[in-house]
Amino acid sequence: MTRSALEYHRQTSYDRHDMTGHGLDWPNQPDVLKSYPGLRTVPLPEVTAWPQDNLSVLIRKRSQEEGATNVTLEKLAQIIRLTHSLTAKARMSGTAFYYRSVASAGALYPFELYAAVHGIAGLDDGLYHHSIGLEALTALRSGNMMPNVSDALRAGTGGSPVLVFFLTSIFFRSSWKYRDRAYRYHLLDTGHLAENLLLALRAQNLPPTLYYDFDDGKLNSLLGVDPRREVCLAVVCVWGKKASGQKETGDLKIPARSLTHASRVSAREVDYALIRDLHTASCRVVKPDQGTPKMLHNLGLKTEPAQQIPRTDTWPELMNYAEVVFKRRSRRNFVQTELSVTRLDALLELLCATGHEQEDARSFAKEALSVGFLSGNVQDLNPGFYVLDLEQGEMALSSQGFMTDKMAHVCLDQAWLANSALHFVFLTNLKLLDETWGPRGYRYAMLTAGRLGQRIYLVTTAMGIGCCGIGAFYDDEAAHILGLNEQTRLLYLVAAGPLKR
Ligand SMILES: Cc1cc2nc3c(=O)[nH]c(=O)nc-3n(C[C@H](O)[C@H](O)[C@H](O)COP(=O)(O)O)c2cc1C
Repeated sequence: MTRSALEYHRQTSYDRHDMTGHGLDWPNQPDVLKSYPGLRTVPLPEVTAWPQDNLSVLIRKRSQEEGATNVTLEKLAQIIRLTHSLTAKARMSGTAFYYRSVASAGALYPFELYAAVHGIAGLDDGLYHHSIGLEALTALRSGNMMPNVSDALRAGTGGSPVLVFFLTSIFFRSSWKYRDRAYRYHLLDTGHLAENLLLALRAQNLPPTLYYDFDDGKLNSLLGVDPRREVCLAVVCVWGKKASGQKETGDLKIPARSLTHASRVSAREVDYALIRDLHTASCRVVKPDQGTPKMLHNLGLKTEPAQQIPRTDTWPELMNYAEVVFKRRSRRNFVQTELSVTRLDALLELLCATGHEQEDARSFAKEALSVGFLSGNVQDLNPGFYVLDLEQGEMALSSQGFMTDKMAHVCLDQAWLANSALHFVFLTNLKLLDETWGPRGYRYAMLTAGRLGQRIYLVTTAMGIGCCGIGAFYDDEAAHILGLNEQTRLLYLVAAGPLKR
């Protein structure tokens, strides 16, 4: 039984000398569009006016404290479209394939989005699935779900949610290709989706609260997913001003099978025990009774004295937030052109701007995860490995020298990576993670890494430079070239830099 993050991560590590190739089971390729035949759908209304804010404003914006007012179906449609849309069409083996506003390892899109609504103009109270292919909401349950949601979130605030989003992942979508390693991508990809959702809510002045902790069993059963195949990984809640006073719950009596069968995405699915075991073990929420240690100080790295990241006066953005969301793509045609220091500072400042929303998961960005970057070709900055203190807005040199070419070799010889100006690296001490939060800590670290990864994609798109997430690397080699201690590992890498014109 895999019961710890350290064990899971080790057992799913890639080793250059021990890579067992495997063919893909094409006849059993997972369906990327979840459907509920026979259930009522509500079309998402067209959006007539998109938000005009720039991304730099949205990311740095502090949430208003008051609860939500005036949420309408039109607003909800806008939030959903800015979170998760089909953005580009390609043909694959003669059939249409759609890329999306959210990056996903292997374009396998394991995530699904659900919304519970209460008191929203134009939409009956209930639970809905975002059926992205239909541009519609599929009605799964009717009535007020919020007492059940509050109970599953164990949220004891005086308010009542008006809008709650549930982010799930379907295991086989990614494990079809990545097998046991896929749990990494379920979490990272879902983190990418969460970041888009949080920004979309801020753009509507709806203060979001992000939850990584909840009663898994209660939420999976509320959503009607088959927990052997699909599980809830994150919840984002918009709270109303005061408790609604209504305690009666909606229609939870629908026979579970009418919903759960929709979690099956292929006729012959393979169950990966490592994933199931770690996920099951991670359903226990551990609240550390002592203060949590700062991850940055537990990576085994020595650093030079830290420097403050300069404040950016003029943001180098070429388009507004809404345009960015629809233009975001993975780009790999990096060139060895210097990245300006203005762009570097803007990227770093926006990465540090975490925790402005009311987040139940606020602290995890600094406690479960550490962020650094390899500077390859940046104006006025020596090549080397730098670590960031997201909380203090500081950076410190850990080791000097040009390393992006070595890292490209470590990333399964994806040679184009050597040309990118920056490699952001997301790190955690897995033993410390296990000791502090138990296996659930792996969810915190990976979901947060995914969130920040999506943020880098969006900020680089706004600045007209390229970005690509990298989940494929030889794990021990990556730790070795970064000089990490035995328990610390690279979780995710995101390359960024100027592109060929
Ligand atoms: C967690 C994660 C890991 C990824 N790993 C790689 C990788 O190792 N190599 C690569 O070329 N692209 C990688 N990508 C990029 C995906 O292939 C890309 O997001 C997907 O094909 C969809 O294309 P798009 O981002 O242009 O919409 C990764 C993306 C994510 C989110």
